[in-house]
Amino acid sequence: MKYLIVLVAGILLVAVGCKKNDTIAPPPTQPVNPADTSLQKMLPFKVGAAVNVNLMQNNTRYNNLVKAEFNSITAENAMKFGTLHPGQFTYNWTQADYLVSFAQANNKRVHGHTLIWHQSIPDWVTNFAGDSTAWENLMKTHIQTVVTHYKGKVTSWDVVNEALNDDGTMRNSIWRQKLGDDYIARCFQYAHQADPTALLFYNDYGHEYSATKRTAINNLLVSLKNRNIPIHGTGMQFHTRYNQTDANIAAAINTAAATGLLVHVSELDIAMNPDNVQGLVFTATLAEQQAAKYKFVVRTFKNIPQAQQFGITTWNVTDGDSWIPTQYNRPDWPLPFDRNYARKPAYYGMLEGAK
Ligand code: XIL
Repeated sequence: MKYLIVLVAGILLVAVGCKKNDTIAPPPTQPVNPADTSLQKMLPFKVGAAVNVNLMQNNTRYNNLVKAEFNSITAENAMKFGTLHPGQFTYNWTQADYLVSFAQANNKRVHGHTLIWHQSIPDWVTNFAGDSTAWENLMKTHIQTVVTHYKGKVTSWDVVNEALNDDGTMRNSIWRQKLGDDYIARCFQYAHQADPTALLFYNDYGHEYSATKRTAINNLLVSLKNRNIPIHGTGMQFHTRYNQTDANIAAAINTAAATGLLVHVSELDIAMNPDNVQGLVFTATLAEQQAAKYKFVVRTFKNIPQAQQFGITTWNVTDGDSWIPTQYNRPDWPLPFDRNYARKPAYYGMLEGAK
């Protein structure tokens, strides 16, 4: 009898143990993220991601995740000058066209990134020999060829990207050197001529860490608006970090809204290893701190006037394809999905922020 009781107890224990394990690890055929909910369903404004065309085409899980979670997409690199316009008389539309067709087939908004920037400049531009009229024509032709190609298909453009320094002065890019400070205004006019219905954004970074820079950006944009230059929105990249203060984040978002322009948090990621610690481990505590920061960004954004909420776009999709580890040569986990495509606490932080 004693042995029988021990045997039965043993069987029960094993059974309970198995059950527990079953609930922890779903069978491999189950999707990582159940289809019950998604960012696009739960957030009261557009939510996007910057996507990598190669992964979109060759990685089904990545493609399915983008389809399920987001209702806006930005090309991570496919619409940059160097990719689209590698020779003076050569345009390479293949990758960007793929994204636009994907968006049309799946009912997603496309945000175009970016027409004029100091990076992704092809050699033929760096080496271009011409007077200021020829340079003006080069810039105008690029903008108008690209915007016309996507007319009616791309909702909005980052017309000029990162034209200011952190101290608020004008970045001395090749465009400024050749065309003077007011090239920015003319870029907007050229884009507007090519597609009068496209929403045109100025995009930059640093709003949350530099009061000087955000003031300079906001002043520039308000002055363009007051001159009736066709500018509709401000893009704040928000490549930020988990220990950025809530006060700074709120100041960035609220002062952007005070310009009266549309507001796009355009490249959001929240770095967890800003001090470049090589052996850092992403603990549950760090994950919770990241979740709180994502929540705060979403909550603050949700509280600006609804008509100005253009949306929030994350820069990349998962920790496995984030540009941060490559860019800074360090381990990091900046996004709401982990490298196995599973939702992180940061994901649920975003949902919480929207409540
Ligand atoms: C980055 C891409 O993610 C990288 O793949 C590329 O090598 C360099 O550009 N600000 C921007 C984006 O406006 O275009 C940048 O994207 C990230 C910083």
